[in-house]
Amino acid sequence: MKELLQITILSVLLTACNGQSESIETSKKSTLDSPRWYSAEQVSQGGELFQENCAGCHGDKAQGLARDWKKPLADGSYPPPPLNGSAHAWHHPLPLLMRTIDRGGVPLGGVMPGFRDKLNEDEKLAVIAWFQSLWPDEIYQRWEKRNGARQ
Ligand code: HEC
Repeated sequence: MKELLQITILSVLLTACNGQSESIETSKKSTLDSPRWYSAEQVSQGGELFQENCAGCHGDKAQGLARDWKKPLADGSYPPPPLNGSAHAWHHPLPLLMRTIDRGGVPLGGVMPGFRDKLNEDEKLAVIAWFQSLWPDEIYQRWEKRNGARQ
């Protein structure tokens, strides 16, 4: 039941994101000093894992490879979105990001493969730490405010 609710929330978020014209300046580096939930070790471990497992689709800097990640491809699936803070990954709380990586997008009608059997919990957290390390403070803080980051 809880799971069903979360899936519903995800689709609502996705829908909301797709129609949104909210613009976020990711190039602007903030000078705010924001402590984050992860360590430097996690970021460096996650960077390697990301290059091995995710960069082929999401880009080596998590910038995404399609010109417009909101535009469906010819087969109706969506291109891999950027995870660098410029798309909508920052709308999702940590447990949901973990679950997306575990299960991939297939259960939700997407095409991303699941990594449940390939990455353990620590490795998944490290990968998230790495792509979050690319988020400007402004985005990170919005994520934290919205999701209560450190659950
Ligand atoms: C085969 C290509 C492919 C690979 C490999 C892949 N992804 Fe994805 N990813 C996608 C696609 C496509 C989507 C959009 C949803 C869908 O269609 O499944 C997505 C969606 C996501 C999302 C949701 C983003 C959002 O804005 O809600 C996250 C998080 C994510 N991927 C993380 C990862 C991580 C971390 C890895 C490596 C462990 C990875 N992906 C590997 C293709 C891929």
